[in-house]
Amino acid sequence: MESQLHSAGIIGIGSFAPPKTLNNLDLEKVVDTTDEWITERSGIKERHIVEDGVAASDLAVEAAKRALESCSLSPDKIDLVVCATITGDMPFPATASLIQDRLGVSNAPAFDLQAGCSGWVYAVSVASQFVRAGTYRHVLAVGVDILSCVTDWTDRSTCVLFGDGAGAAVVGAVPGGAGVLSAVLGSDGSGGELLRIEAGGSRLPTSAETVRNCQHYIRMEGREVFKFAVRIMGEASVQALEACGLTPQDVDLFVPHQANIRIIDAAAKRLGLPDEKVFVNVQNYGNTSAGSIPMALGEAYRTGRLKEGDIVVVVGFGAGLTWGAAVLKWTMPAIGNLT
Ligand code: ACO
Repeated sequence: MESQLHSAGIIGIGSFAPPKTLNNLDLEKVVDTTDEWITERSGIKERHIVEDGVAASDLAVEAAKRALESCSLSPDKIDLVVCATITGDMPFPATASLIQDRLGVSNAPAFDLQAGCSGWVYAVSVASQFVRAGTYRHVLAVGVDILSCVTDWTDRSTCVLFGDGAGAAVVGAVPGGAGVLSAVLGSDGSGGELLRIEAGGSRLPTSAETVRNCQHYIRMEGREVFKFAVRIMGEASVQALEACGLTPQDVDLFVPHQANIRIIDAAAKRLGLPDEKVFVNVQNYGNTSAGSIPMALGEAYRTGRLKEGDIVVVVGFGAGLTWGAAVLKWTMPAIGNLT
């Protein structure tokens, strides 16, 4: 019997980072740190930070417009909006609904999902299921975070790592055998304590005391997260490749979550990938959480690093703990370097 499933893939991609930047020398004036330490330990040189009053949906709408433009699709052709974020405009309504309204995406359903820095891989996986099943033709999968608003700017062990940004993909039908070839998602909730914001939820609602104790900021056990990240990025990538009958040798471009150059290098080494097959822009943006992978993928595309038929692995890890890897057979036509 012929399968009723379609192939689904990324047919449009776009990203947006706020114009204001904060470099390592700026941070030397804020906390007890040095450009040398930050560069050596993380690879980050600067990050983009929103001005006061700018929220996740503001960045997301810009990224989404660019994604739609890249495939010449009008907003009314979007059938579903999925937004991965841990820093939505407000606890509710969902940021996806705000994006849907501001883009003019008719009355399409919209929801947020939360999987920390792995969120966008989750969103693309969900989007591709709907397209494969024929439920929706075009799904907007957004990843956005404004970590600067949940960063403790007195904590040098975290504040040097994070930045703000958004990326968006249009997921639609693609020729058979292309697009999202596989996706592997996972979670180990026993590691939830390693990376968290304690207050502001139902367990510990915001109060004057939680604010006084700075429990509305990110807390992270950096070394533990580092070890987990190095292991899981390699494992998840191999699992996703095996799920579609491929090996690391088949990979044309590896686009990992941009958290730390040492994590990226270690994961690439485990996979036996040479530098030229690894996309890195962590030096310019820091860790933008759910925005990181689509921003990197969008930049890889705009700078001419991707052509039709390329095998791309995207992989992320984050709070939860969570992880997600997907193998894509690229279908968008190659373009010259647009930057
Ligand atoms: N400047 C100078 N010194 C610093 C800084 C800083 N910004 N931060 C920490 N140090 C000091 C520490 O106090 C420590 O000093 P000590 O030896 O006297 O105690 C020393 O540097 C080493 O600290 P470590 O934490 O061991 O440094 P490490 O090499 O592990 O690097 C880092 C820290 C960069 C945080 C690393 O562990 C890491 O990248 N972890 C993973 C982070 C990550 O990817 N998180 C994902 C977040 S996803 C999300 O938030 C949604």
